[in-house]
Amino acid sequence: MMSAQQMLKVFVTRRIPQEGMKILKKAGMCNLSVWDSDEPVPRAELLKGVADAHGLLCLLSDKIDAEVLNAAGPNLKVISTLSVGFDHLEGRLYNLNGCTIFLHPRGIRVGYTPDVLTDATAELTVALLLATARRLPEGVEEVKNGGWSTWKPLWLCGYGLSGSTVGVIGLGRIGLAIARRLKPFGVKRLLYTGRQPKPQAQEVDGEYVPLDTLVRESDFVVVSCSLAPDTQSLCDKTFFSKMKKTSIFINTSRGAVVNQEDLFEALSSGQIAAAGLDVTTPEPLPTSHPLLTLKNCVVLPHIGSATYSTRGVMSALTANNLLAGLTGSEMPSELKL
Ligand code: NDP
Ligand code: DGY
Repeated sequence: MMSAQQMLKVFVTRRIPQEGMKILKKAGMCNLSVWDSDEPVPRAELLKGVADAHGLLCLLSDKIDAEVLNAAGPNLKVISTLSVGFDHLEGRLYNLNGCTIFLHPRGIRVGYTPDVLTDATAELTVALLLATARRLPEGVEEVKNGGWSTWKPLWLCGYGLSGSTVGVIGLGRIGLAIARRLKPFGVKRLLYTGRQPKPQAQEVDGEYVPLDTLVRESDFVVVSCSLAPDTQSLCDKTFFSKMKKTSIFINTSRGAVVNQEDLFEALSSGQIAAAGLDVTTPEPLPTSHPLLTLKNCVVLPHIGSATYSTRGVMSALTANNLLAGLTGSEMPSELKL
């Protein structure tokens, strides 16, 4: 057990599942300071809370940039994020001749949560795809508001997966898990695109194709890539104009991969059939947002990894990454910068 003076300051930016808090407390080396709320920490409180911290446990809703690192000061050894996405760690995005310019040179290590949320996120993506393609929210609404008068041959028809072509943008951990789950629905062709072909695509008979081919030929376009400068606004007017009028667009990666004005135009003009989004810009999406006026757009509040057990495991992994960063030992999941 460390003495009070030896304890390392750790700032936790939100109330997190107890699995992680138990691990941090049990380690007996952390002087824990927690933003004990379900709501995001205000920027000023983040800057105050992180001052002199050795460790920062953050969420995807916290923008971690040079201002935060400067507010932390030279003690900071580790940032552990309760997410697999790391686009909110801004320093990671700014590359100068292949070098990361502010997280890495200061020796700050980064932990994240790959793999443990893959199944939950893939499952949610399939649920969102089916809900969007088969118009489930519209159907539920009609039952409640009296719109269901009788069985009608032409009413609430949608699109099925059987015999279809599915295109996955970003066949990473989650993309592959989505493809695995979709194949048994009778998908005829599974296309994917990314920075390079993936040997593991064989498992789902995946065909590596250029983005243009994927967008033109798919009945379902599923976005599961990470957000980076080359994927920001990837799905824009040109992209949607190449999709079939009967195609469904699904995004469970990050909202900024999509140009939402262009998506609104594509949906409202009938350029594409429907869209299902688990992620938006901003989050939360304002209730007055035009996308929410459309029946053919299903929007979920970023719940891809939201199962009790997944969030518990994410919390534990985030705590263990943080402790490893504090003690200079091997992290269970370190983001290699
Ligand atoms: P991975 O790193 O395993 O996969 C990311 C994939 O993105 C890689 O296959 C990569 O392709 C691909 N990619 C990168 N750049 C491009 C590009 N320009 N065009 C096409 N594909 C590209 O990460 P995960 O699968 O674990 O997670 C993916 C993302 O999902 C996370 O970054 C996060 O943003 C999001 N996510 C959302 C959740 C939710 O709640 N909705 C839950 C969890 C994650 P390549 O390998 O060829 O480089
Ligand atoms: C992530 O981990 O990046 C998700 O968006 C939330 O689980």
